[in-house]
Amino acid sequence: MIPQSFIQDLLTRVDIVDVIDRHVSLKKQGANYFACCPFHGEKSASFSVSPSKQFYHCFGCGAHGSAIGFLMEYSGLSYVEAIHELARQVGVDVPEERKARRGEQQKEQSLTELMGAAARFYREQLKGAERAIDYLKRRGLTGQIAARFGIGYAPDGWQSLQKVVPNYADKSLLEAGLVIENDQGRRYDRFRDRIMFPIQDSRGNVIAFGGRILDQGEPKYLNSPETPLFEKGRELYGLFQARPSIRSSNTVIVVEGYMDVVALAQHGVPNAVATLGTSTTATHIQKLFRHADRVVFCFDGDAAGRKAAWRGLEAALETLNDVKQVAFLFLPDQHDPDTYVREFGADAFTEQVANATPLTEFLLGELAGEADLSSAEGRARYAHEAKPLVLRIGAGVLKLQVLKAVAKRCALDERELMQAWGLTPPPPPSRTNEPWRKGKGRRDDAEPPAVRGPRHQPRPLEANLLRIVLHHPAWAARLPVDLIPPGSDEGRALIAIIDAVSVGDLGNKSAMGTLLEHFRHTPHELTLTRMCAEQAEDVIDEAVVETVFHDTVHALHAKALEDEFNRLAARAGELTPDERKRYAQLLQQKKRNPKPQPKVSDS
Ligand code: UTP
Ligand code: MN
Repeated sequence: MIPQSFIQDLLTRVDIVDVIDRHVSLKKQGANYFACCPFHGEKSASFSVSPSKQFYHCFGCGAHGSAIGFLMEYSGLSYVEAIHELARQVGVDVPEERKARRGEQQKEQSLTELMGAAARFYREQLKGAERAIDYLKRRGLTGQIAARFGIGYAPDGWQSLQKVVPNYADKSLLEAGLVIENDQGRRYDRFRDRIMFPIQDSRGNVIAFGGRILDQGEPKYLNSPETPLFEKGRELYGLFQARPSIRSSNTVIVVEGYMDVVALAQHGVPNAVATLGTSTTATHIQKLFRHADRVVFCFDGDAAGRKAAWRGLEAALETLNDVKQVAFLFLPDQHDPDTYVREFGADAFTEQVANATPLTEFLLGELAGEADLSSAEGRARYAHEAKPLVLRIGAGVLKLQVLKAVAKRCALDERELMQAWGLTPPPPPSRTNEPWRKGKGRRDDAEPPAVRGPRHQPRPLEANLLRIVLHHPAWAARLPVDLIPPGSDEGRALIAIIDAVSVGDLGNKSAMGTLLEHFRHTPHELTLTRMCAEQAEDVIDEAVVETVFHDTVHALHAKALEDEFNRLAARAGELTPDERKRYAQLLQQKKRNPKPQPKVSDS
């Protein structure tokens, strides 16, 4: 674990503008910086970076986040890797891991060399292994494709790898997962008499193997264990070979098996990769979306395939944005991509890929499959099950589309559904209760706040305050935490921010992006990310926002007194003497001032 305080401190030292400018050349325009969005193809510069908010946002595709988020999305780094990268850029050490690091890098280096040597050995062995060559030919592979994927053969002996590492007792063999040590401390090769599929990282280094038994036997595939080089949830088989065609076709096909990838390539579908006997992770999807806008999962049509598809869907939701698409292709029974492409050819397969079921259709269909939409209870249940999934969709417009579709199935309109889910419905088209927003002319900002009509439905106070606090995190210290209603996502997030500020967890230089990072991996992450994205394009009118903040705090106090008064009034007959005194006091105040205005301390 990297301490939160370090991350917050790190974020105040880096400037998101520098971080992004290393990768995307930014142009200053007013207070912000702009560029063509690196996350979706475009010709106009709708990607903006705000130095004051330490936040980036694309008006085109909705991509947004902090400096850490940018590195994760742009460079495909994990959270921890992104922190390391930032620390490197400003020349500080990440605490806790200082010592281990040097040694680890050296170890990885030597393991990589060892794996490379093993792969060469297995390839060499294939040349003389007639049974293995026969097997591959029977499965329709040419020598050219076998070479492209570096396919090899592990001979039948117990310690064949001695030819690669003469000192067979060397501990690196065990660390690389190439040998197994039994209880007596005796060692032998993990892979024996198997077809060897090397798994490569994005630079082409061999980091693991999958070994298939020739013909029948158990287990059919034997895989390398997780090692310092190999983490299953991150790697995809065939990505190294497929990358150019993934980029040129802007599509990547995700299949289940090694042989599916190889057979597809053999038949002219080179843009396929496989997960490695694990379910698809969000990391996989992020990785793939770096190379293409469209990810198509291709699974068996059976129950297991649908289950795998559902897990793929769950992994994809957060990563989706309005240009990234995920679709699902279920092949006819008894087929996997390998057998399908062999029987029907590349064109037929490619057509299936083009017609794959879009994610939303799959999602809504699977949910509806289990629900009884003819009864109110069934519809409520449907909404209940849809909620967490819909809320996780990263894409703004797509999320709204799905929300509308769910609402329709529940016989609600979308505003009702949003309210039921504790979301803030969008303001009515031409009115706003956020007079501090200067906006970009997309709202009716010419209209002064005073003439707002009564048909305008005000947003809850806590949501307004939260919006302001996102721009001025330090102001959270001035808020009366006890008076914030904890009933909504916004209220709870606001309370969490007040708490964090009051114990000094957020430095006083905290900006929107920094604040967002503080709440990563917490229940508030989603609410805050959503609100930051909504706020990103707004230019705050500092002169007005201060007043609005004060007024809102006053209104909170007033509402608390009003509530107290109403509670006492409801029990008028049974009040204790103290309560009666308080009641009289409040009544006096009300008479003097129809809307009670308590004193507020501003310090
Ligand atoms: P399948 O059983 O669907 O095999 O496993 P396949 O890919 O069609 O293999 P062929 O065509 O019979 O050669 C799909 C994937 O699940 C993992 C492997 O990654 C395999 O490619 N798997 C399967 C294992 O790791 N171990 C096994 O024993 C079986
Ligand atoms: Mn198969």
